[in-house]
Parts: sequence; C-alpha cells; structure tokens
Amino acid sequence: MSAQVRIGVIGLGFMGGKWAQALTEHPRVELAVVCDVRESHAKETAGDLGATWSADPGEAAGDPTLDGVVVCTPEHVHVDAALAAIESGTPVAIEKPLAHELAAAERIRDASIDAGVPVLAAHILRFEPRYAAIKSAIEDGTIGPVQMVRSERVGVAADQRILQGRTSLPLYYGSHEFDLARWYAGEVTRVAARRSSGVLKAAGYDVDDLYSVVLEFAGGAHGTSTLGWSLPSASAPFGSSGFTVIGEHGYARVEQGSTGLSVVGESGRIAVDTWYTPNVHGQTRGALANEVDHFVRVVTSEASPLCTAADGAAAVRLCDAVERAASDDAFVDVAAAPEGG
Ligand SMILES: NC(=O)c1ccc[n+]([C@@H]2O[C@H](COP(=O)([O-])OP(=O)(O)OC[C@H]3O[C@@H](n4cnc5c(N)ncnc54)[C@H](O)[C@@H]3O)[C@@H](O)[C@H]2O)c1
Repeated sequence: MSAQVRIGVIGLGFMGGKWAQALTEHPRVELAVVCDVRESHAKETAGDLGATWSADPGEAAGDPTLDGVVVCTPEHVHVDAALAAIESGTPVAIEKPLAHELAAAERIRDASIDAGVPVLAAHILRFEPRYAAIKSAIEDGTIGPVQMVRSERVGVAADQRILQGRTSLPLYYGSHEFDLARWYAGEVTRVAARRSSGVLKAAGYDVDDLYSVVLEFAGGAHGTSTLGWSLPSASAPFGSSGFTVIGEHGYARVEQGSTGLSVVGESGRIAVDTWYTPNVHGQTRGALANEVDHFVRVVTSEASPLCTAADGAAAVRLCDAVERAASDDAFVDVAAAPEGG
C-alpha cells in the first residue's frame, strides 16, 4: 500500500463539500486541510471530517506540506488559489470552468506549463462511465470518424438560489458540453450563437435563459449545443440533457436524465443520483469518486491529467467565443483573441 497523500480543499460549498467527503473515503488520502472564507463553516467541516481548517485561501493553497490541492471556490476566484498552489509546486484540481475569464484561464494554463506542475481541469463528465464509453467507442473505431455532435443541457431556475446570477450559462453549463465536444470531435474553429432572456431577469437575476450554439470543427465535423437553466423546479433534473455523437460507422447517445431508477414516495417521484455522487453502502461512488481516484494518481505521478489546464482554458475560450458570436450575429473564429484578452 502506497503512503497517504495530504490533500487540501479550498471552498466548501456544494461541490467542495462533496470533494472533501469523497477524499476522506479514499484509502490513499489524508484530508489535511479544509478552507473557506466563512470561518465558522471551515471549522465545522474540519470537525466533521477530521481535518485542520483555514479561512485564508492563499495560505492554505500555498501550504508546502500538501501533496495536492482541490479548488472549489466560486469561479471568479479559482485563479488565486490555483496560482498559489502552482507556485508551491503542488498539483491542483480545479472545478470547472477553469476560470471565469479567458485571461485568467490562460494564466493558469501558462503557469502549469512553465512550472511543470500538473493541473486537472475537473470536468466531471469525462469520469462518468457513459460519457467515457463514448470516448472509447470513438477511439476503438466503433463509431468511426466523428461527423456530428449534438448536446443539450437545460437545467432549472432553482440553480440561481446558489448562483445568484454570479456566472453565465456558457461558463456554468456550456463548459461541460464544449469540453466533451472537443474531447470527442477535436478542436473547434468557428461558432455561431443565439441567446434569449426574460424568465431569470424577471426573477431578479441578470443572466440569459437559453443559448443555441453551432460549432464547426477543424476535422470537418459540425455540431450544436442547446443550453438553458430557466426551467421550473418541478422539471426532472437534467430532464432534457444529453449528448449524441454520429460518426461514419455508427452513433452513441447518452440521456443524462435517465438514471434507470424510479423511486416514488407519497409526495411523488424522488430524484436519486445514480451517476455523479451516489451514496453506495455509505460511500461516495460514481463520477466524482472516479475523478478523485484519478487526481490521487496525478498527485503521485502515476497518471497525467485526463483533462489538462490547456483543455480547461480551451473550454473557457469556447465560452468566450460563444458570447462574441451571440453579440456579433455572425460566425466567429474561436482562435481570434477577444478584445482585452
Ligand atoms: N462538476 C459539477 O458538476 C459542478 C456542479 C456545481 C458547481 N460546480 C463548480 O464548482 C465550483 C464551486 O461551485 P459551488 O456550487 O460549490 O459554489 P458554492 O457557492 O456552493 O460554494 C462556494 C464556496 O466557496 C467559498 N468561498 C468564496 N470565496 C472563497 C475564497 N476566495 N476562498 C475560499 N472559499 C471561498 C464560499 O463561502 C462557499 O462555501 C464552481 O466552479 C462551479 O462552477 C461544478
């Protein structure tokens, strides 16, 4: 059995709580420190999980005694904790999107490359068995050269109870889909986009409701992505989300909302996660457990990141291009530098 690796988690909200719990369950991990700017929450989480606590993200992420750092802060401050870890030479996993602005994402990418410190851009869908199986079916020739991708991710307005309008639909949801599109079909050269708003603005959040995106790939494939987050709360989680890949020899389709499970109580249907962070006999399993295990192997140099900082920055560049295309009413070149970027 290899030695324990000491890992710290920065940001203990929805995702940070799940990462911290899953890390405590990993046989090769010591959850060394948990950090949140909400000091009382950091202390309470540390007490629950048997870690030390910090309310200073720069100090915690830069702690030279750590073997790995996981950044789960709100998107616009990923860059601070990420650079502190990289400067200390500590491998870091950063929740998607890599950063909230293209310039910050590219700073993280460049710092990782220059320092030779591995960064895992934590795009969880690469670790979900169904999405990974599509990648295998492309690589082993079953589907053949990819001709078209089509993705839909339309979530509920209730997300804004956590997000409070702090991020955009392309960055929050699109980053998942654009990362998968690149993973399956290669580099995207041009995008066009339309967006609409109304429902969430009426509810007091300064964000758009829906995007329709057209993608063109360097290898000749094309695709579409439908993004939304304005459905009523009664909608099934990810009820209209999924990914289709069509190639010269076959196709593959994931229905993200399909769990293969129905649980119904007196108050109606109950959503049970079977894919992302399911609790199986008291332990976190599913895509997040796969991602945690991969990050442990990155930390111990047994694996290179399946999704690098360069991949994470490329997804942010696509989000940026989609916003430009929606404003310009035209196809835009993804590689063209944005103003001020
Ligand atoms: N992989 C997924 O499916 C998935 C799902 C949801 C969110 N996310 C991503 O996870 C990240 C976190 O999102 P969330 O939903 O957990 O947010 P959240 O608002 O629930 O949690 C953020 C936490 O960070 C703390 N925080 C704020 N500023 C901080 C700082 N400078 N240093 C340390 N802590 C700080 C907050 O107090 C809060 O506890 C985002 O990048 C988000 O896009 C990923």
